[in-house]
Amino acid sequence: MNEYFNYQQDKLFVENMALADIAERFGTPTYVYSRAALTDAYQQYANALKGRDHLICYAVKANPNLSILRLFAGLGAGFDIVSGGELQRVLAVGGAANKVVFSGVGKSEAEMRLALAAGILCFNVESEAELLRLNEVAGSMGKVAPISFRVNPNVDAKTHPYIATGLKQSKFGVAYTDALALYRKASKMPNLHITGMDCHIGSQLTESSPFIAATEKVLQLVDTLAKDGIKLEHLDLGGGLGIRYKDENPPSIAEYINALLTALNGRVEKLIVEPGRVLVGNAGVLLTGVEYLKPGEEKHFAIVDAAMNDLMRPALYDAYHSIQPIRRRATPASLYEVVGPVCESGDFLGHARELSIEQGDFLALMSAGAYGMSMSSNYNTRPRAAEVMVDKDKVALIREREKVEDLFAGEKKYL
Ligand code: LLP
Repeated sequence: MNEYFNYQQDKLFVENMALADIAERFGTPTYVYSRAALTDAYQQYANALKGRDHLICYAVKANPNLSILRLFAGLGAGFDIVSGGELQRVLAVGGAANKVVFSGVGKSEAEMRLALAAGILCFNVESEAELLRLNEVAGSMGKVAPISFRVNPNVDAKTHPYIATGLKQSKFGVAYTDALALYRKASKMPNLHITGMDCHIGSQLTESSPFIAATEKVLQLVDTLAKDGIKLEHLDLGGGLGIRYKDENPPSIAEYINALLTALNGRVEKLIVEPGRVLVGNAGVLLTGVEYLKPGEEKHFAIVDAAMNDLMRPALYDAYHSIQPIRRRATPASLYEVVGPVCESGDFLGHARELSIEQGDFLALMSAGAYGMSMSSNYNTRPRAAEVMVDKDKVALIREREKVEDLFAGEKKYL
């Protein structure tokens, strides 16, 4: 619950709209985003960075819906992408290519060509092999590729192991101890231009200290490079700031940025950040309807029409999403396992939730704006959910509910 999603009497509202009305009109499951919440989170970054040379590169993977990208582009955002597909989304909404940084350990030649042709700001290079390929591809196009190395600072992000990326044993980035040699090598390559250094140590971090530790290690390298005559134009400190799902207490955006700025201690290089979750996570919910209540000997099940294919985080990370009724009932609550229709025991959305519900009620899975729709799948031939955006008392469909025919069109033509 926050200022954009809250109860008015017994009804859950997003901005000035009752979620019940949205469920009736668009059906379920449906992702619902608050335009004001998205804008507010972005503005908190922009305000905290005011007066400093900076670029906020929204991590597209958190939620790549075109309307969300267009909203952020309009607010001045750049973008952090990890595929050619994400670049095409950014370009499709008129996002500026020269504000795009390209991360990822497996950039293909075709993706490099696309990004070079578009004229992106920087390739965040994650291995020596990638460096060699990029130099070749750029040369073959008569271009010079702007690069930074993603350095792995070997810092423990203290988060779920699946989303920690900054430890030595991680596949991400170049080893801290190899970074200097790689910069020296890159500086001699004809089709590359060194512009920065970057690091990203993980996601859903709830403390500032790992960010500070990583920044300090990055700065040591920057100083050593400067002595070698390699001067950097920007420092990209990645994303990763966590949000509250249940009872976490992450630093606010302003506290986090102030901590980074303190660690940067007056450096003049442009500061790039790559926030994903913190811009969209608490700006969205997943609306779902209760299909059946199924009492059991040991547990009661609430079987809802959203499943692990719509919101994978509980099944994959054992992640917690608060589950709220969109109309509160006065009747006593019971404990429910909230589960979807998918044929897997891992298909759950919440364990032991205290709810007062009946068949046909609607529920909201809270904090679902980040890595919800973007990680959804068609498992069990389930069409993906619709997405809508609310702006005060108006709601707009921003992605149609998928149709089953869409799912097998590519197979049918071979029958
Ligand atoms: N930059 C890079 C290079 C990244 O790999 C990521 C996220 C971000 C920025 C944005 O991080 P954020 O600010 O959103 O924490 N599916 C997982 C999260 C995976 C994050 C992957 N990388 C989840 O649902 O928790």
